[in-house]
Amino acid sequence: MLATDFLGIHLKNPLVLAAGLLGTNASILKRVAASGAGAVTMKSIGPKPRAGNPNPTIISFGDVVMNAVGLPSPGYMNLDREWEGLKGIKVPLFASFYAGSVGEFAEVAEAIVPHKPALLDVNIGCPNTKSHGAIFGKDPKVAAKVVTAVKEVSGKIPVMPKLPPSDNALEVAKACVDAGADAIAGFNTWGPGMVIDINTRKKVLGFGTGGVSGPAIRPLMVKKIYDLYEAVDVPVVAVGGITTGRDAIEAIMAGASMVEIGSGTIYRGMDVFAKVAAEMESWMRENDVKSIKELVGSAH
Ligand SMILES: Cc1cc2nc3c(=O)[nH]c(=O)nc-3n(C[C@H](O)[C@H](O)[C@H](O)COP(=O)(O)O)c2cc1C
Repeated sequence: MLATDFLGIHLKNPLVLAAGLLGTNASILKRVAASGAGAVTMKSIGPKPRAGNPNPTIISFGDVVMNAVGLPSPGYMNLDREWEGLKGIKVPLFASFYAGSVGEFAEVAEAIVPHKPALLDVNIGCPNTKSHGAIFGKDPKVAAKVVTAVKEVSGKIPVMPKLPPSDNALEVAKACVDAGADAIAGFNTWGPGMVIDINTRKKVLGFGTGGVSGPAIRPLMVKKIYDLYEAVDVPVVAVGGITTGRDAIEAIMAGASMVEIGSGTIYRGMDVFAKVAAEMESWMRENDVKSIKELVGSAH
């Protein structure tokens, strides 16, 4: 019922662990894989060892999660143990990565490719660093240069830029597709936003601001995915606020071929994927839908 194919990758369901949540080391990724996800994404890999931002880096209240983790990474050169540990993982493994220049994107991709991940998830959308994130995903020309550079070294591995939710996201997406992107993922966190502690009169997050995720952003994501589906002719992946089977089906109807769950792991635990899959199957049985593929873009 939920089995699908994405760019030639066979998935038992279209539910993917989003980059940055739980995906920080091999043993956790393997546990998520065993707990029902169709595929898992590694925490974004960087060009150099990087500490990330000062604490606190994550807060959650109501339907909002805010983070300014700031892309901590051991750097691609220090990941041999994780790659070794990831051997034999039961579901397709997606590798997310970031860099500080177009050339560095190619350098990191080139180091990742020999480990044969199923997909290269190019993080050009993080709002929580001044030098490594959304600056590459907000300008169509720059985003296209990153995709071209990564495609030159990616071989047969599909390349999927993950965009920031900017006003010009459709323009950026089209430029990425023209440069050879095999799919587009939307989106990284929104904002950035700010939370102030009224007792100390100080900003709560160590970085001052943080990207917004969680159920609160879902309608914003759905609208942009709906528009993206009409704007590009490659598969679209939805990320943002999905925590239930109903949410996943909504995003798929808007046009997503796969959906990613990040903050949903905070709201519903590591087995959120199994829970969401069961809810989707139950809805599909009630509505006589035989295959999830029938629903992609069906709201158009
Ligand atoms: C704590 C945290 C860490 C994240 N780290 C990354 C990351 O390393 N790379 C990336 O592309 N996105 C990262 N993200 C963004 C998520 O992958 C996702 O795009 C965003 O949170 C929206 O989806 P959600 O509402 O399901 O969480 C992170 C998000 C959170 C909350």
